[in-house]
Amino acid sequence: MINEFTAHPNIALVKYWGKRDDRLRLPFTGSLSLTLRALRTRTRVRAISQGTRDRFVLGGVPRKGEPLARVSAFVDLFRELAGSNNAVLVESWNDFPESSGLASSASGFAALARACNHVFDLRLSDRELSILARRGSGSACRSIFDGLVLWSAGERADGLDSFAQRIEFPESPGLALLIAIVSEERKEISSTQAMELSVRSRGYERWIRTTEDYLERALEAAKSGDFTALGEVAESHSKLLHEMLESLDPPVIYRTNASRAVLSRVKELRAAGVEAYSTMDAGANVCVLLRGRDLETVEAEISGVEGVLRVIPSR
Ligand code: PMV
Repeated sequence: MINEFTAHPNIALVKYWGKRDDRLRLPFTGSLSLTLRALRTRTRVRAISQGTRDRFVLGGVPRKGEPLARVSAFVDLFRELAGSNNAVLVESWNDFPESSGLASSASGFAALARACNHVFDLRLSDRELSILARRGSGSACRSIFDGLVLWSAGERADGLDSFAQRIEFPESPGLALLIAIVSEERKEISSTQAMELSVRSRGYERWIRTTEDYLERALEAAKSGDFTALGEVAESHSKLLHEMLESLDPPVIYRTNASRAVLSRVKELRAAGVEAYSTMDAGANVCVLLRGRDLETVEAEISGVEGVLRVIPSR
C-alpha cells in the first residue's frame, strides 16, 4: 500500500550495550547485526489537523502515556527538520511479539523514520535516516539496512558519525537465522533499564574493551566470509552479556530454563556436525545463526526442544 513503510527487526551478533549519551542514544561501542527478513513492522503516518495532538495506534490499539510520548518526541525530530507543526496519526503493526527480545523497537523506529521522511517530504538518505532512527531506539539505526549491518559508535558529541551501514558477507549459500520463541510475554526489565545498571557496574570498563575486540574479530570474519569465526564470536559475546547481567546487583535474568535448553541443543548440534551458534538479546528468546542450507535440519531439531513455543526461520 502507498504510504506504508516497512522495516525488519535485527539481531545483534556483537551487541550494543550501554549509552555514552542517553538523550542522543550514543553507544560506547560499535555493534554488528543481522536483519531478520522474516519479521516486519508496517507503519503509516499521516498529518492530522493542526492544533490537535499526535495519535499512536499500535496493532489496532490506541496508545497513550509513555509509548505515545516516545513516538511523539521522535516525530518532533522530523517536524523540526521540516519546519512543520503538524500533528500526526501514526499507525503501526508488528507481525511478531513485542518486548520479548525480538527488537520490535528497532523495526518500529526504523519504519517510523521512513514514514516520517515521506510525510514531511524530507528526502533524507539512508545514512541520515539511520542517524535519526537511532534517536528512537539505538538498535533501530541498524534496521534501516538489510543483511549484515555495522553500527559505528562514532566519536562526535552531536552523534552525526554514529550510524549504521551494510557489510557484505561473501559466503554462499548465505547466512540464516532461526528464532526459537520460548516466551511471548513482555520482559520485566527493559533493555534501557538493564543497560543503565550495567554502565554503572564495576565490570563495565572491561565490557567496553571486550566488545571492541569482539567487533574487530567479527568484522574480520565477515570480510573473509568465515562463518565459523563469526558464529563463535556471536555466541561467545552473547554469553558474556548474559553472564554480566546475571552478576549485577540486583541481577538481570533474561535466560529461562527453556532458553537454556535451546542453548544446549545448539551445542549438541555442533557436536553432531551441524554448524549452528546461539545468541540472545534482552529477552528469553534465542536466535540461532546457521548456514542457509542447514535451515531445515536445525528447524526440526529446535522445534522439538521442550519449552519452545514455535520457531521462525529467516534467510
Ligand atoms: O535498541 P535498544 O535500546 O532496544 O537496545 C537493544 C539492545 C540489544 O538488543 C540487547 C543488543 C543490540 O545490539 O541490539
